[in-house]
Amino acid sequence: MIRAAVIGLGTISAVHLDAIASNPKITLAAVCDTDETRREQAPDGVPFYPDYCEMVRRERPDTAHVCLPHYLHYPVSRKLAEMGVHVFCEKPRP
Ligand SMILES: NC(=O)c1ccc[n+]([C@@H]2O[C@H](COP(=O)([O-])OP(=O)(O)OC[C@H]3O[C@@H](n4cnc5c(N)ncnc54)[C@H](O)[C@@H]3O)[C@@H](O)[C@H]2O)c1
Repeated sequence: MIRAAVIGLGTISAVHLDAIASNPKITLAAVCDTDETRREQAPDGVPFYPDYCEMVRRERPDTAHVCLPHYLHYPVSRKLAEMGVHVFCEKPRP
């Protein structure tokens, strides 16, 4: 079973959460958003973190979906790779 995490719970995250939920080979390990008001968007039983690095250290996902504003694509994707996490990035841009 692949353990996936979603970073950024804005507009497009619903598409990613639906895709993960519909794939029997993937389980949603955790979700993350710096906006704590997004906590209620975490599906039942799925841990929410405001800090993605802490999320990775504690939950050890295999892959993370980067659903963040463009300027964060590179630094967050690089950091995830350095932490040994596969990256699924929305429209990656430098
Ligand atoms: N909205 C669309 O229709 C659409 C379609 C295709 C692709 N995309 C892509 O998806 C990406 C995200 O777009 P969106 O529309 O969901 O944006 P959004 O602004 O709705 O959501 C971004 C979320 O990221 C959170 N965030 C910001 N910094 C963070 C950090 N350091 N750690 C954790 N969370 C953080 C914000 O609080 C927000 O909830 C963009 O790259 C965009 O190009 C969007």
